[in-house]
Amino acid sequence: MTDLLLLPGDGIGPEVIEQVRRVAGRLTNDLVLDERDFGGKSFDLHGAPLTDEALATAKASKAVLMGAVGGPQWADAPRDKRPEAGLLGLRTGMQVFANLRPALCFQPLADASSLKREVIEGLDFMIVRELTGGVYFGQPRFIEDLPDGSQRAVDTQVYTTAEIERVARVAFELARGRRNKVHSAEKSNVMETGLLWRRVVTALHQREYPDVELEHILADNAAMQIVKNPKQFDVMVTDNLFGDVLSDISAQLTGSMGMLPSAALGAPGMPGLYEPIHGSAPDIAGQGIANPLAAILSFEMALRWSLGRAEVADRLYAAVQRALENGARTPDLGGKLTTHQMGDAVLAEL
Ligand code: NAD
Ligand code: IPM
Ligand code: MN
Repeated sequence: MTDLLLLPGDGIGPEVIEQVRRVAGRLTNDLVLDERDFGGKSFDLHGAPLTDEALATAKASKAVLMGAVGGPQWADAPRDKRPEAGLLGLRTGMQVFANLRPALCFQPLADASSLKREVIEGLDFMIVRELTGGVYFGQPRFIEDLPDGSQRAVDTQVYTTAEIERVARVAFELARGRRNKVHSAEKSNVMETGLLWRRVVTALHQREYPDVELEHILADNAAMQIVKNPKQFDVMVTDNLFGDVLSDISAQLTGSMGMLPSAALGAPGMPGLYEPIHGSAPDIAGQGIANPLAAILSFEMALRWSLGRAEVADRLYAAVQRALENGARTPDLGGKLTTHQMGDAVLAEL
């Protein structure tokens, strides 16, 4: 059985996943790795961004680590053939409905953030983003022609009680192992899905998690509070679209998009999907300067959450921390190291 299926993908994806390969080789000698084409590369070679065979292999692995997908060369492909459609198909195919996106400031990077040191030093909060529902998948969705020659586009935001409850449960469970506080972010003031979200989270809280502190927050205010005072947050649960936006904001708090890993989890015992939250970074792809730490830390999360190797994960985490303490910086962090040299810096600490 494959332990970890690698899906390097497009752009900087293969560049950062290469460093994961090196780190994995140093840390373990019994991890069974496999690899498949994914995203734009898979579309070019096999006619689909996610082949049935790749999805079946992903579901049969213990964990999946994705690099990144997308790029301008596929911008005009039909929507279902676009690299991003492959990623959405992978998430729903694997039924990984809870996306854990930590916003964590490594001490040596406290000055790499665009915010003041005192605002982000010691920052450690977790966004739990609903990943397989909402406006990303709701039907109907279309663009239609109108009689006057203009067009009309429709997306649909849908959530069911069960979808909200299962992701909120993940947030409450996580909070119990942390600082015991959950913020639930929605727009119940203007959206029906927001209203249902708030009711379902409130009911679940009263029924099963009264020991956890719960605060409801409107998503726009949440965006503002994340920049103003991010340390007030412990766990924030939110829908697919708000989670996408709020996690990019949180990534920048920590210094760079190149630092943030994520874990997408489904039912217990099912394989997890691990991915840096950044994209294929077409602006720097091919230059060998992408920061591989988000990918390496995604591997760290896979070791911890899906592969049952918490001790190895601890060693890797500590190595990343020491590399940063010793001044290892790719250009996004204000340094000069290449992707490969950042890999070297982590390997040196192992
Ligand atoms: P992006 O995350 O690719 O890039 C945003 C900015 O952050 C760029 O300036 C980029 O250079 C920088 N950046 C990102 N990762 C970095 C890293 N590891 N090291 C250094 N700098 C890094 O977002 P975008 O430009 O909006 O999207 C580009 C493509 O990626 C689009 O096709 C988009 O759909 C796709 N995308 C994919 C994923 C994914 O695969 N999970 C996530 C986001 C975007
Ligand atoms: C992310 C990305 C994806 C998303 C895209 C590429 C489908 O932005 O993982 O954050 O919107 O979920
Ligand atoms: Mn995103």
